[in-house]
Amino acid sequence: MTPRTTELPQPRRPGSYRVALVCLGNICRSPMAHVVLEERLADAGLADRVEVTSSGTGDWHVGNPMDRRAAATLAAAGYDPTRHRARQWGGNDDADLVLAMDLANLADIGGRSDRVMLFRDFDPLEPGSEVPDPYYGGDSGFEEVLAMVERTASALVAALGESAT
Ligand code: 4NP
Repeated sequence: MTPRTTELPQPRRPGSYRVALVCLGNICRSPMAHVVLEERLADAGLADRVEVTSSGTGDWHVGNPMDRRAAATLAAAGYDPTRHRARQWGGNDDADLVLAMDLANLADIGGRSDRVMLFRDFDPLEPGSEVPDPYYGGDSGFEEVLAMVERTASALVAALGESAT
């Protein structure tokens, strides 16, 4: 079993679970997490029971595809980045779990609650850390984000498979 320290909130509706991923622009971090998490869910046979969305607190990139560096990093690792279009966070209507990429994103959506936490609260290596914004940095930042996202998504899927649906 994958170790973790954070418990998942219970589903609002038994048998289905909604996860909302939030960053600033919705073109780098939360889209990378979105694509990887959906892939892991499909591998685990949970794709029809867990719905993933992503959004950004800012509106600058709404409707745009992923940042080309984020897309290239995903594609090089075998994921499909092409379907993403950026959306703006509009408040948590009915997600079971809202996961912010960093503390500024978390503050911008109203802070922690029983259903709102940091994505990396589920990171088995460094729980409670932020996913750093790679937008103004070089390509290595995107590789680092992918590594964090991959191991955290695996832990999250293990938790979802055990208790959330
Ligand atoms: P993200 O990265 O929040 O991981 O999508 C950013 C994308 C765009 C901007 C900032 C961060 N921006 O300022 O446009």
